[in-house]
Amino acid sequence: MIWLVLACTNSGDDVDSQVDEGLDTQDTETVDTAPPERPSFANPQRAEDQNPAEGVFELTLSAAPQSFVVAGQEVQGYAYNGQNPGPLIQVERGDTLTATLENGLDTASTIHWHGASVPFEMDGVPWMMDPVQAGTSKTYSFELNEPITGWYHPHFDTERQVDLGLYGVLLVKDPAWPVAEHELVLLADSWGEAPEEGHHAGFVFQENTWTVNGLESPVLDVQSGDSVVAHILNVSNMGYLSLSAEGMRVIGGEQGLLPAPTSPERLVLGPGDRAIVEFSPSSQEIELLTHPYSVAGEIQVGEPVSILGIHPSGSESAHPGLEWPFAAAAPSPDPGGTAVRYVFQGDEQTGEWRINGEAFPDVTIATLPEGEPAVIEVRNLSATEHPFHLHGMSFEVLSVDGVPPDQRTIEDTVNIGIRQTQRLLIPADNVGDWMAHCHILPHAEGGMMTVLRVE
Ligand code: C2O
Ligand code: CU
Repeated sequence: MIWLVLACTNSGDDVDSQVDEGLDTQDTETVDTAPPERPSFANPQRAEDQNPAEGVFELTLSAAPQSFVVAGQEVQGYAYNGQNPGPLIQVERGDTLTATLENGLDTASTIHWHGASVPFEMDGVPWMMDPVQAGTSKTYSFELNEPITGWYHPHFDTERQVDLGLYGVLLVKDPAWPVAEHELVLLADSWGEAPEEGHHAGFVFQENTWTVNGLESPVLDVQSGDSVVAHILNVSNMGYLSLSAEGMRVIGGEQGLLPAPTSPERLVLGPGDRAIVEFSPSSQEIELLTHPYSVAGEIQVGEPVSILGIHPSGSESAHPGLEWPFAAAAPSPDPGGTAVRYVFQGDEQTGEWRINGEAFPDVTIATLPEGEPAVIEVRNLSATEHPFHLHGMSFEVLSVDGVPPDQRTIEDTVNIGIRQTQRLLIPADNVGDWMAHCHILPHAEGGMMTVLRVE
């Protein structure tokens, strides 16, 4: 949920306006950028399994209008099972998920399982299939064979319905993974000024206000020496996270563990993107900061804001880090050839966002034969970044502007920088018509979506 963050990060005068609005802008290292009274961190409420059978997780997700409080303001939105965020679905790899959407909205909806490789009929797109009409229901059922930090959201009237609060986490865990003392799930959403119309009308949030699980800058109290693992998901319509924290290690991406952990200076997560990180608090407080970020590539000078505090008590030394079963792997060699080319173009002025000059749904369908791995080349010719998301299959990043990544990188959503070209290897092993689009939802709505067919 975001309105002005893109505009304000592009405006170049956001520092002043933040100061004017009284945003606390203190020393970035000691960090107390949040309001004086910080709420306690809480994970989204976990869904209960309605099916006693081993290996099957069953639940009902009732979508309905709901009012809830976000960052201290009451908002008229939508929710699954009355919760914002929706229920946390946590299963183990190999389990079958059976989820029934009961549509109690006054409009059609669907559920898309972002990051899961599901059969086409279960993908929740209103393409060759009708959406779930108001007052009706649909059951989605599929196996989850890969560990993912995934999420679910409507894929009909998407920008509006996700913005109103329809989203939740789908966590598929590998039983071989170690268990942390604190395992956190952070759904990060951003807020700006309300638009003229819509249910948010009249609500004005501070620019670059982020919430996690609906809480503004919550605090988790831990013991020093505890292990803390966090799944971070950016469910914002268009806001980018640019994260840093003392001692933060990135151990996983959206599709399970990384081949080896990394410690980037900034962890950038665009809309739809996710990561798994590990913290090792000793006696020092840790603040997870998000820094101002410009999708137009401008230098940002604003102050970071804290989206989570981890406050230890006790004097144990830091946890050495859990024993994750990392499997070091180099990137696959580029097989050469290009099966599909996607050129991203468009601009803020017109709001017309295009792939290969076409606007969804009037698109040319690229077709790939099943079972033959293929290279997609994505080139961004616009003046702003785009998080590219593919349904149905994860892909490997072969190269960014000709340079292979440091280690094997498996994604379903990847940020394409300005003027950048990325070569992506897809297995083409899932038959169906798969949406390929920008996950900045106003861009997708503005046409930046196409269809990749595997047959
Ligand atoms: Cu998260 Cu096509 O979507
Ligand atoms: Cu975009």
